[in-house]
Amino acid sequence: MKTIIYYFTGTGNSLAAARGICTRLGDCELVSIPTLAKSQAEIVPAADRVGIVCPVYDFGLPSIVAAFAERLDLSRTAYSFAVLTMGGMGGSALHQLNHIIRKHNGCQLDASFTVRMPGNFVPLYNPPQGKKQEVILAQAEERIGEIAGMIDKGLIVRPVLSPLTSLLKYFTYAGFIKNLHESDKAFIANEKCIACGTCTKVCPVQNIMMENERPSWKHHCELCLACLHFCPVAAIQMGPKTATRGRYKNPSVTIADMKKQRGE
Ligand SMILES: Cc1cc2nc3c(=O)[nH]c(=O)nc-3n(C[C@H](O)[C@H](O)[C@H](O)COP(=O)(O)O)c2cc1C
Ligand code: SF4
Ligand code: SF4
Repeated sequence: MKTIIYYFTGTGNSLAAARGICTRLGDCELVSIPTLAKSQAEIVPAADRVGIVCPVYDFGLPSIVAAFAERLDLSRTAYSFAVLTMGGMGGSALHQLNHIIRKHNGCQLDASFTVRMPGNFVPLYNPPQGKKQEVILAQAEERIGEIAGMIDKGLIVRPVLSPLTSLLKYFTYAGFIKNLHESDKAFIANEKCIACGTCTKVCPVQNIMMENERPSWKHHCELCLACLHFCPVAAIQMGPKTATRGRYKNPSVTIADMKKQRGE
C-alpha cells in the first residue's frame, strides 16, 4: 500500500515525526510542502494513503500548510491522516485542518493526531534542553510508533475536543496570520554573525539573502524560526529575550535535510 506524507518543518520535529511514520509504514514517500508552494495547481496524490505532518503555530496551522490543504484533492485516496507536532497545546489546529479538508473534499481526515515535542518558540520561552529535552523526545518517539500502528490498521481517529486551545486560537490566530510575512522585521543578526550563510540555506521559503555579509529578510516569512535555531553562533535574535535563551533543533535533522525541504 503506497503512502505519501506531505511535511513542513522549521526545526526538524515534524520531519522527524514524518520519517518515523514513513519508516514504519513502508512504501512511503516524503514530499515537502514548500516545494509545492510555487504552483497554485490542485494536488491529486497518487497514493492509497495520504498524510500531512507539520507543526502547530499559534494554536493553528502554519500559513503555508493551510494554503496547501486548500489545494489537496483526496478523491483518489482511500485513507488520510494528519500528525501535528507541538510544544504543548494545539488540538485546535487539527480542527482547522479538518475544516479545510472537509470544505474541499466533502469529508474530514480519517485520522488526526498531535504529538508533544520540544517547543521552539524561543521569543516566548527557553526551549527544553538536556535531560528534559531527551525525555520529551523519547516520549514523542513512543507516541509516533503508536500513531504509525493506528494508521497501519486504518483506524478512524477523530480530533479530540479542545475548548481551551480553540478559545486561544480564536483570540490570537487572526493577528498572527495578519502580520506573518512581515514578522521577520523583528529579526536581527548581531555582531556574532560570521557570514556563513546557513540561515539562507535552511529557510524553507527562500526568505533570506546575504547582503554585505549579513542576512537580510525579505518579508515573505512563515515564522518557522529555522534561521534563528540553525545559526551556528546564535547570532539571530528576535526581540529582547532571545539572546539569553537556548536554541533547539531536532537532533536527527541536518542542514542537508533542510535544503532538501527546499527542493535542493
Ligand atoms: C510561530 C510559532 C508558533 C507556535 N505556536 C505553538 C502553539 O500554539 N502551541 C504549541 O504547542 N506549540 C507552538 N509552537 C511550537 C511548535 O509547534 C513545536 O516546537 C513544533 O514541534 C515545531 O515543529 P518543527 O520542528 O517541525 O518546526 C510554535 C512555534 C512557532 C515557531
Ligand atoms: S526567514 Fe527564518 S523564520 Fe522566516 S521562514 Fe525563513 S527560516 Fe523561517
Ligand atoms: S547563520 Fe548566523 S552566522 Fe551564519 S550568516 Fe546567518 S546569522 Fe550569520
